[in-house]
Amino acid sequence: MQAILRMSPAVMLIWLLAANTVLSAPAPTQSSSFSEITQYPPSTQGARQLPPETQGVYHTALEREGHELEQPEPTKDADGTFELDSLFDTLNEPDSFIDWILPGLDTPPEAPAEPSASPVPDSTYSSSDLSLSSTSTESEIDSPISPTQEVHPAAEVTTSPDSVTPESTFATQAAQDTVVPMVDQDAFVPVGTGPIPAAIPPRDDHPVAKNGVDSSNPIETNKFHSALFLGSQTNATFTHPYSLAWAKGSGNLQSFGMSVSHIEPHLLAYGPTNSLPGNPVSYYINPIGIQSVILSATELSHSTTLIAENVLPFSADAVLRPQAGSAQSITLPVVQGMAYVTGVYTQLQPVIQSAVHFREVVTAGSPRAGIFKYRATLEDDAVWLIYVTPQDGQDPNLELVSTTDLRGPAGWSGTIQVAKNPAGSPGESLYDNSSGVFPIEATVSGSVNDRTGTYRLSWAKGGKDTQSTPLMMFALPHHVEAFDSQTSGHAVNITLRTTTKGLARAVIGEYWTMTEPDLPKTMDFAPWSIASGSSRQLSQAAQTVIKTAAATELKQDIDAQSNLNSMYYSGKALSKFATIIYTVDRLLGDHASATPALDRLKSAFARFTQNKQQFPLVYDTVWKGVVSTASYGGDVGADFGNTLYNDHHFHYGYFIHAAAIIGTLDPSWVGPNRDWVNMLVRDCGNAAANDPLFPFSRSFDWYHGHSWAKGLFESFDGKDQESSSEDVMFAYALKMWGKTSGDASMEARGNLMLGIMRRSLRNYFLMESNNVNHPPNFIGNKVTGILFENKVDHTTYFGANLEYIQGIHMLPLLPSSTYVRSQEFVREEWDAIFASDAVAPAERVTGGWKGVLYSNLALIDPAASWRFFAQDNFDYGWIDGGASRTWSLAFAAETSHNPRR
Ligand SMILES: *[C@@H]1O[C@H](CO)[C@@H](O)[C@H](O)[C@H]1NC(C)=O
Ligand SMILES: *[C@@H]1O[C@H](CO)[C@@H](O)[C@H](O)[C@H]1NC(C)=O
Ligand SMILES: *[C@@H]1O[C@H](CO)[C@@H](O)[C@H](O)[C@H]1NC(C)=O
Repeated sequence: MQAILRMSPAVMLIWLLAANTVLSAPAPTQSSSFSEITQYPPSTQGARQLPPETQGVYHTALEREGHELEQPEPTKDADGTFELDSLFDTLNEPDSFIDWILPGLDTPPEAPAEPSASPVPDSTYSSSDLSLSSTSTESEIDSPISPTQEVHPAAEVTTSPDSVTPESTFATQAAQDTVVPMVDQDAFVPVGTGPIPAAIPPRDDHPVAKNGVDSSNPIETNKFHSALFLGSQTNATFTHPYSLAWAKGSGNLQSFGMSVSHIEPHLLAYGPTNSLPGNPVSYYINPIGIQSVILSATELSHSTTLIAENVLPFSADAVLRPQAGSAQSITLPVVQGMAYVTGVYTQLQPVIQSAVHFREVVTAGSPRAGIFKYRATLEDDAVWLIYVTPQDGQDPNLELVSTTDLRGPAGWSGTIQVAKNPAGSPGESLYDNSSGVFPIEATVSGSVNDRTGTYRLSWAKGGKDTQSTPLMMFALPHHVEAFDSQTSGHAVNITLRTTTKGLARAVIGEYWTMTEPDLPKTMDFAPWSIASGSSRQLSQAAQTVIKTAAATELKQDIDAQSNLNSMYYSGKALSKFATIIYTVDRLLGDHASATPALDRLKSAFARFTQNKQQFPLVYDTVWKGVVSTASYGGDVGADFGNTLYNDHHFHYGYFIHAAAIIGTLDPSWVGPNRDWVNMLVRDCGNAAANDPLFPFSRSFDWYHGHSWAKGLFESFDGKDQESSSEDVMFAYALKMWGKTSGDASMEARGNLMLGIMRRSLRNYFLMESNNVNHPPNFIGNKVTGILFENKVDHTTYFGANLEYIQGIHMLPLLPSSTYVRSQEFVREEWDAIFASDAVAPAERVTGGWKGVLYSNLALIDPAASWRFFAQDNFDYGWIDGGASRTWSLAFAAETSHNPRR
């Protein structure tokens, strides 16, 4: 009331007209029967004004999170053995972590686990206090997916005809178009959900307290929604294309609601240019803190709490309450790809705010029965649609009480959805059509049939008229590329830019099906090429050279090189020796030399299965996972932050890879070690959505199509990853451990992940000259460097040498490297950076990175790579701690016999 009294009479009149119009409208139907009323803010009357709040802030610091400065490399001593100890002494020293600020800028320049073809009875949306109907029940969401049902809804419809309701027309028709392969391997059969090995003790004092999360289930630590529950709880959650952040009293409005942002390209800030062809910028970054729309309530203030509930792989509910324990709340289901940001209000007075300021708000009718639409134009010219679904069905009469506040009735319950519409009235019609419903959570399912992988993302819906209202979601470029024809048919003409993944496209429907052809099914441990498959045939001359290198490298102390205070470097060492031993045994056929080395490798590995390494593993009962004890002493950066769930797929991937080779060379080793290795798989690549001990797929994000390395570290710019190639190693390790241990589903999952990463890396990490997903002035860097959710920084956490930045996306060179790193890409990168006439010629690079570069060269010029590794007076200092001359020679030699590769 107070607000209305402040209005000028003219505005008051508009208000009354607006109210009358809505109230006098017949039963809400279509906007055509409804004359639109424009509200102007009381003070400005539509005057153009671009407030500073439209600009945001940029954070270019690389946050400290436990990446040490130096990648240790073995250095050669006189007799060909390696001294590592001194290099590792620095590992846990705080000074060794990088703390460097880039030249900065303060201000600018399992739901439908059932696809809805097989709908289930409505149920209550359990995460909200409102009785909004949902198409999925909790039990189905939690249960492991049966891929036969998921990937082939048509089959499901046939086998369960009773479950089809008349309202499932959309999805049922869609499902009928799906081609059903004949023989499928489900890619998501769990390795088990039983107890972890007795050697791993539980521990309940994790360094990061679990505040802000209301759940006793295993928590996803490396997913997009950590900002909801870490630290200040005010950093952004990137759902793409939107980002959300709890305002918590910040900004000009000092709001305590949830702010929503979407960044247009002109707001990007760029780093200084690099001395590379085309002078690409060293980074680009999106501003944060632009509060375009805030979903708030007049009751929210300093005592407001934010709790994350139902923290799941693709979703979490952000619940704002005026005070802890209050029954009044706004619940926002935060789901990757959501097309509207939805707030489910319970007994509050809504206020929709904009720190960018409202220029005008149009009361735009009722697109669907019981839904009231407003069209807001902000001072940055963006148009946001606001859909209000009152629980009582009554016109909410939102009032524009100032340039920043659009206020609703007191004691109100219902949902408010906001969406940015870049696509005019055709776009608005599409948004209208899907208004009132929203995704609650998602599941992934998938299968492999011969060389073809199929996976599906499916959403459970909440809201009003869920059965008859199709869901709208935004897909990333790598989804759209891989859509099957049925899903492609549901993509529509609304695109919104994402912060670092190119353009997102709206798609109508409850699930998407993606197909990945040409999976590397035949790839084994031997060098492999897409054209020729695996090859174990080495020429006699090659064998002679490799034998000499192997004899030298097998003299190294396997035990000492893997007995370190770091799971990362220990795993790399075990994986390296496994690869050497495989080469000797299977590619050279020298069983006699391989066997004693294999025994030494097994005994080095046993230190870890017995949990007797320097920092043993524990089962963390707080977040639920297996972590190193390195950081329980206080240094959260120790061992790259393993204790805080950084990099588990890298660390454990190397162990899994080593185990796969050991088990192949000695099948009797698999049985006694299976549970321990599978424990690592459960920790970082779990296929079970209902494992009481571990979250589903901690590392690999099945929406983004790659893993995130960052764990429980609060971050301005979201999750990140700096080594796409070690992510590939992890998928390859799963594939090979699945094959070795007789787990066909894990093998299929590894193959599917490799297929997805081949596509996602080409789109997002390894930039060929025709890349369209990053700004044109960034492509010349060839690799992203560290890809964050909100910025892309051509650097590493351990230094900015070009061989580090490019090389950390190369190593380890494995058969899977051939599959993921296209020849076009490798050629462009080499010519731009490492060729003799380029800025950082490989021949002048020093240390272990030199070997990494020349092993990578085998992908395009195996003869040159061979010449490098076979040269007389080879310096073993050119070999990285996770690589070997033996394997590098085999890798190059094989390819030289397969010129088409
Ligand atoms: C898609 O929408 C844009 C504007 O948002 C328009 O320029 C373009 O013509 C549309 N394309 C199609 C195929 O309708
Ligand atoms: C809205 O939905 C109706 C019914 O599903 C459909 O016929 C119509 O084409 C849709 N409109 C748009 C713009 O997609
Ligand atoms: C975001 O995270 C950083 C830590 O990286 C922290 O310093 C900051 O306070 C957090 N919140 C905001 C709003 O920046």
